[in-house]
Amino acid sequence: MANGTHVLVLPFPGQGHINPMLQFASRLASKGLKTTLVTTVFIFKSIYSDHPIASTSFRTISDGFDEGGFAQAKSPDIYLSTFKSVGSQSLASLIKELGDSGIPVHAVIYDGFMAWALDIAKQLGIRAAVFLTQSCAVNSIHYHVSRGLLKVPVEGSRIWLPGLPELKIWELPSLIYHHGSYPAWFDTIVNQFSNIDEADWVLVNSFYELEKEVVDWMSKIWKLGTIGPTIPSMYLDRRLKHNEDYGLQLLHPNTSACMRWLNTKPNGSVVYVSFGSLAEVGVEQMAEIAWGLIGTNAYFLWVVREPEEPKLPDNFKHMTREKGLIVRWCPQLEVLKHGSVGCFVSHCGYNSVLEALGLGVPMVAMPQWADQATNAKHVEDVWGVGVRALVDEKGIVRRETIKQCINEVIMGGKRGNEIKKNSIKWKNLAIKAADHGGSSDKNIDEFVAKITS
Ligand code: UDX
Repeated sequence: MANGTHVLVLPFPGQGHINPMLQFASRLASKGLKTTLVTTVFIFKSIYSDHPIASTSFRTISDGFDEGGFAQAKSPDIYLSTFKSVGSQSLASLIKELGDSGIPVHAVIYDGFMAWALDIAKQLGIRAAVFLTQSCAVNSIHYHVSRGLLKVPVEGSRIWLPGLPELKIWELPSLIYHHGSYPAWFDTIVNQFSNIDEADWVLVNSFYELEKEVVDWMSKIWKLGTIGPTIPSMYLDRRLKHNEDYGLQLLHPNTSACMRWLNTKPNGSVVYVSFGSLAEVGVEQMAEIAWGLIGTNAYFLWVVREPEEPKLPDNFKHMTREKGLIVRWCPQLEVLKHGSVGCFVSHCGYNSVLEALGLGVPMVAMPQWADQATNAKHVEDVWGVGVRALVDEKGIVRRETIKQCINEVIMGGKRGNEIKKNSIKWKNLAIKAADHGGSSDKNIDEFVAKITS
């Protein structure tokens, strides 16, 4: 134990936030800290684990919806405001209880989406680090909005911000571009920066080489530490034994069916399609994806979560049984690592992007909302690891576009080969950042040294 120092790690209760923060907790534990992951009562009841994590303890707080979580609340607004009020009290009680039982909390690492956790830590005299789960580029855009440096609704067709490429306004995060679309979520992302100056550390799930210019710019404002990509070690530097997956899933992956099926397919021949844990794809868009996949004549593994299944075209599963496998959830890292996968059609949730990048899998980007359009811009234009499948005037990506993009990535023409080359380059850089003496490893060491001093 590094000094017996104990940190609480508090992700926002969703798969895309728990994964990176739990993985960061595993990294800290490997460096000698005692780590406790705090999640909500409802999430704790729902989790499923293939490889339970021995290095991190688990505790719960209430979000006010212990029976049904987010789905139990009548609206995002009600959920987020109740979580803030009930969660603040519940977190304060937990910290006191841990102190009374002889396991005092020395620092709190909280998800930027829960800025209220910083206020609780400060009230209790505990040091705190904010963990920003989105890319530095996206954080910088949200920061500019929060400080009134970028006015919303955004005017004009392009914007220029320090350290970022020129952005067309539709390449901005959707909560900025479609200002007013989800006010409660907008407040949450902007609020990340309301009290951030009081945080003792600012940590970001990125790595220096990936976002140099914007990291340099943000480092002038705060002492910023890039500590990513937070992908299980066995897929990167392989230094943490048994760290093969994040450690918990909210949905049950169909592992054996996926792996058995992939094992029978030739190298680089499979298109993996997934839109993460939240996206709700429209019926018309689902049909276009389905017909686009048929059009490529490639093998495909498609994750369609249970509530999305009725949107599949009639008879599609049966019709494509020779070419495709449709599952409700898969072990995404194992799938991306599998040699038969040649392309990832992704909504560009930030974890999926980092995973594809870290494992060297080229992408076809089909962003849906939130940070995804900005991530997709980087995938295509900045990192060169994929192509964007663009929407038509109705906001739908058509089957021809999907087919063309997949073929471009998987067939290996001039552009496809360039994308593959870049994917390998970024994979190696991601491994280097996480490995001993790499940029993220050094930042984590520095953080651990400060927190234990
Ligand atoms: C959300 C937001 O939508 C995203 O924009 C933001 O950047 C993070 O939070 P989500 O939509 O779920 O996340 O996408 P993503 O960030 O890609 O996270 C999904 C996670 O679930 C990944 O770690 C992925 O490996 C995992 N996953 C996905 C599985 O394990 N199995 C699957 O079948 C699909």
